[in-house]
Amino acid sequence: MSNLLWRKQGIAVDADIQRFLAGDDIILDREFMRFDIQASRAHAEGLHRIGILSADELTAIGRELDLLADDFQHGDFVLDERYEDMHSAIEDRLTERLGDIGKKIHTGRSRNDQVLVATRLWLKAKLDETAALCREIAGIALTRAEAESDLPMPGYTHLQRAVVSSAGMWWAGWAEAFIDNALRAHATGDWLDANPLGTAAGYGVNLPLDREHTTAALGFARMQVSPLYAQLSRGKFELAALEALGGAMLDLRRIAWDLSLFTTAEFGFVELPAQYTTGSSIMPNKRNPDVIELMRAAYASVAAARTEIEQLLSLPSGYHRDLQFGKGGLVHGFTRGLGALRLLPALLDALEWNPKAMRSALEPSMYATDLAVDLARQGLPFRDAYREAAKPERWAEGDPAASLAARVSTGGAARLGLDVLKARLRSIAKD
Ligand code: ARG
Repeated sequence: MSNLLWRKQGIAVDADIQRFLAGDDIILDREFMRFDIQASRAHAEGLHRIGILSADELTAIGRELDLLADDFQHGDFVLDERYEDMHSAIEDRLTERLGDIGKKIHTGRSRNDQVLVATRLWLKAKLDETAALCREIAGIALTRAEAESDLPMPGYTHLQRAVVSSAGMWWAGWAEAFIDNALRAHATGDWLDANPLGTAAGYGVNLPLDREHTTAALGFARMQVSPLYAQLSRGKFELAALEALGGAMLDLRRIAWDLSLFTTAEFGFVELPAQYTTGSSIMPNKRNPDVIELMRAAYASVAAARTEIEQLLSLPSGYHRDLQFGKGGLVHGFTRGLGALRLLPALLDALEWNPKAMRSALEPSMYATDLAVDLARQGLPFRDAYREAAKPERWAEGDPAASLAARVSTGGAARLGLDVLKARLRSIAKD
């Protein structure tokens, strides 16, 4: 490790201990680097506005930050073990190129507020993508709900055949779920849309930093006011983001579960497009739904990240290096989670039902609930109607269309409530 920013004369540095301190942090920092560069630019602008950097110095720093961002993006500047972290790497590069001018960049900032601001910017982008994917998934589910509202399929409770349902009802459920998930991702994005840059190590700094400027330049909605809370919120906002992603992943896990059941020979309701299946190395006959299984498994990585970060937060106030270990889980959780979520729209689009298998899974007992309610509507007390409808001799092949048509979800005539869902989805569309 070349240039340790904090190194003092006469104090020995042990290579093994340095490796332990760094761990995989410098590799993880590759995720956040472009945001740290962006925040460094805003900070430099702020320093110019309060007279710490001259116009020429700002221009030089701005130019070098642009070059660094370019080199980093094209792989010409690699974050690796030569550096302690991305923060040091940026200062190192500016100093190497600009000498004393580069050495001014750290005036009034700490790596503590640098890592906070880079993580918040990174998460804003991730939550935007989460919300966009949820909106897309909801849109596909809505379109298919409308098209397939009359395609009967069994409705299960306890995985036992219960009542007549439809593909439309299945889709409408996911549409509403992903509208909720999109809303939550939006809300969480708004909640963490606050600028910590300028809070330094957690106790502010004796300079009139132009925090309004950095807040606007970085596109934050507001600034974090208390320097100490800016530190204390580390981990907390990562947890909130993982929870927002986790909400969508819970639904994704259930969709994957449904599909892995529906694609078995025993159900036979759907056939997965070939690209979502793999083969077996020994059993030539197999087509395995590995893709949906890994999509289902991705929830575990999100939940694990949440747990790991929560455990790390058992700390007194102020910055502690423990917090660094939250980065791995956060990156891993979002990489796995978004990786799975990104596959969902195309999978849902491509899904083909086998209407014959779904129709033949309906049986007379599945109209018993309709019968009980019909008898109650005719005046029989419901409990008596229920007992009457429980008699197998009362069960007869019913009409799925009539059964479905009589069911309401909005309290009005609109059976699946699709208009309500469409309006909600429109209201959260990004302009
Ligand atoms: N890698 C460090 C982290 O993630 C950066 C901040 C280091 N700050 C410090 N005071 N050692 O927390």
